[in-house]
Amino acid sequence: MENRLFYPATSRNSESISRVLLKYLPGNGTVLEVASGSGEHAVTFQKLLPKHTWQATDTSLVCCRSIRSWIKYYELEEIMPEPIQLDVETKSWPLTKEILDSLCAIVCINMIHISPWECSRALIRQAGGILKVNRPLILYGPFQMNHEPMTQSNMLFDMSLRKQNPSWGIRKLEDLDELAFSQGFKKEAIIQMPANNLSIIYIKV
Ligand SMILES: C[S@@+](CC[C@H](N)C(=O)[O-])C[C@H]1O[C@@H](n2cnc3c(N)ncnc32)[C@H](O)[C@@H]1O
Repeated sequence: MENRLFYPATSRNSESISRVLLKYLPGNGTVLEVASGSGEHAVTFQKLLPKHTWQATDTSLVCCRSIRSWIKYYELEEIMPEPIQLDVETKSWPLTKEILDSLCAIVCINMIHISPWECSRALIRQAGGILKVNRPLILYGPFQMNHEPMTQSNMLFDMSLRKQNPSWGIRKLEDLDELAFSQGFKKEAIIQMPANNLSIIYIKV
């Protein structure tokens, strides 16, 4: 049975996100991806980064099944671990000592606006607890820049998100900053990405 999911946005943004990863990821280690979705990013980035181990996760079982199918499709079973079912809001993340010891970065793409604000809080709090000094937390998605009005397209997108679920929505960068700084991160970079998205790089200090 075909379990692979196909997310159109994923194939559109993989190349630009790849450039960010190549620049900001440490040279090797385990990259923990939170909210991997279909798994298309996970296999793309694992192929791009042979010195890293890409650990995909998602709260959804359907997504975990899709990630597994993508790993199989590209015959990456030998180098890529099984996806982990992980809900960011879980108090104790189900990560082995091996993962925690080798953890070099946490990456989260397009989850923050499509989940309640509590998920962002949980993500940043947990990342602050498990990332070692100098390790990055890399976030990607649409965000509202401090003191700047939202672009017209992000404003419409924000409205459509909130219509689907009132607890979703495009977050303000200053709110994320406040959370991140309180968990021991500094902001290393904000990178403009295609289609009014940003990559935000926080580093544990
Ligand atoms: C828009 S999709 C993005 C998927 C993928 N990162 C991408 O860019 O294609 C949002 C993902 O967030 C996941 N998600 C939502 N709430 C979550 C939570 N509490 N913990 C972990 N993942 C969550 C969903 O299951 C979904 O796969």
